[in-house]
Amino acid sequence: MVSAGVAGAALLLANKSFERKLFAFAPRAVASDSHIEILTGEAIGAIAPEIYGHFVEHLGGVVYDGLWVGEKSKVPNIGGIRKALVDALKKTSPGLVRWPGGCFADSYNWRDGIGPKAQRPRRTNFWHDAAEWPTGSPDGPWKYEPNQFGTDDFLHFCNLVGAQPYIAANLRSLNANDFYEWVEYCNSPAGSTTGSDIRATAGDREPFNVQYWGIGNESWGCGGNFTPEEYAAEYRRFTAWVPNYGKRLAFVGSGPNGGDLDWTRRFFTKLNERRALGSMWGWALHHYSWNVSGGRTTDWRQGKGDAVNYNDEEWYELLNQADQIETLITNHWNVMGEIDRSHRIKLVVDEWGAWYKPGSEANNSHLLGQQATIRDAVLAGLSLDTFHRHAEKVGAANIAQLVNCLQSLFIAHEDQFLVTPTYHVFDMYSAHQKRSAIRTIVSSPPAAYTRNGQPATMRALNGSASLKDRQLTLTVTNADLKNAREAEILVRGATVTSVKGLSITADDVHAHNTFQDPRRVEPKAITIAQRNGPIVFSFRPASVTRLDITLA
Ligand code: AHR
Repeated sequence: MVSAGVAGAALLLANKSFERKLFAFAPRAVASDSHIEILTGEAIGAIAPEIYGHFVEHLGGVVYDGLWVGEKSKVPNIGGIRKALVDALKKTSPGLVRWPGGCFADSYNWRDGIGPKAQRPRRTNFWHDAAEWPTGSPDGPWKYEPNQFGTDDFLHFCNLVGAQPYIAANLRSLNANDFYEWVEYCNSPAGSTTGSDIRATAGDREPFNVQYWGIGNESWGCGGNFTPEEYAAEYRRFTAWVPNYGKRLAFVGSGPNGGDLDWTRRFFTKLNERRALGSMWGWALHHYSWNVSGGRTTDWRQGKGDAVNYNDEEWYELLNQADQIETLITNHWNVMGEIDRSHRIKLVVDEWGAWYKPGSEANNSHLLGQQATIRDAVLAGLSLDTFHRHAEKVGAANIAQLVNCLQSLFIAHEDQFLVTPTYHVFDMYSAHQKRSAIRTIVSSPPAAYTRNGQPATMRALNGSASLKDRQLTLTVTNADLKNAREAEILVRGATVTSVKGLSITADDVHAHNTFQDPRRVEPKAITIAQRNGPIVFSFRPASVTRLDITLA
């Protein structure tokens, strides 16, 4: 049975045939405590499918044991790629997949991953010496890269799931010419270059036409420890006169770590001195939510919490950090606009998600692997809603990472596979893609909690709406752990004819899907009996909801 915590007279009905459905009725006896106003006449911009992007790095169990099982595996696969993952991901219409890293990208030689698999070199993986390894990690492909999954396999995977590939170039340890030849290998017409001949011998005569290219990764850190000025010079060298084979390439600059506005301002200023901003399509921003210490520490290890066992303060601290993405987007956007006055360059939220301490990974070879609860679902929903509300600024975004690492959509080990609550949010929210984001004002009493002994709050309801023809989609997260929020939903400038939807929550906020119980946390259908007047719906505590509203 669904636990709804319905406030006022919004009514939860349940009987045998309604077991998986939540009903809410208008009108009600008492005033709602929350309000949502959807201004159908105020379009923000089109929601880019690329906002529904993913990230695949050669790290721990992401590629080997996660995505790639090999052609000879007993695990059902398509050319070595885990079939269950392809089928599930495809259903969510993924816009983009970023590969091969991450920090790994700046140590990767793409030539190691092409040609006959038996002849490919084995290399020491960038993450081999990672301090984060849980104790006693075994040797294996996560430490010694066998290069069995390379450029062709990645691009086949993108084709299988219908996503655009986004390849991160190695700027730290290879030369610009190596990058040009990678572009040549992927994009030069059949029969035109040695690169295209090698590609054809491997089985792909026609070019892959990769459009999105990242120019390094975290160049302020693992990508070379550059100053913004040094990185600007490298960026220029890498992007000047790259052969484009008739396709406009979309270069993404290695942007700031969270709120580092200095990195953005100095890079843009330096690049502009040589009038070199024209080649840049996107500016990458990385933002992880990890510090649940309530301000007691800023230490990268001490500040992290457990993926599953958390208290109320840790719940709110993590979600409050995720909510900061809105300020980061606005602040970096404003700084970019000081130089890029017409705002031609988009923000790419290149890596985002929750980062917990080790301990909940499905297997000890899964470096940075972690479990996922309804807290992660709320984090995913509020982040995606934020991207929609800034659809004119955010051109792409990649949750970190796709499988077996950080805030994953999937957890897999050998022949076992499950989808996480985060997956369900991507599935629910994919309805927004390509639609016009509509200005939506959400107001509710804040959720109150105790932060390091002091009273603190965070916004409870958060959301976004989008419109295509007569179909309006509203998604809402309720971050309040204890209280349902009954909202009066007003659709300005249109008449509502019907409302239905989906909602995900959990009877225990620590509940998670396991290989033994893979459907413990999943969405349930909701039906709203629409009468005259506003829609009234009670958003359950710790929940993510999508309402499909049909207009007259
Ligand atoms: O996603 C894990 C790592 O986090 C990536 O490799 C790096 O870019 C970031 O610091």
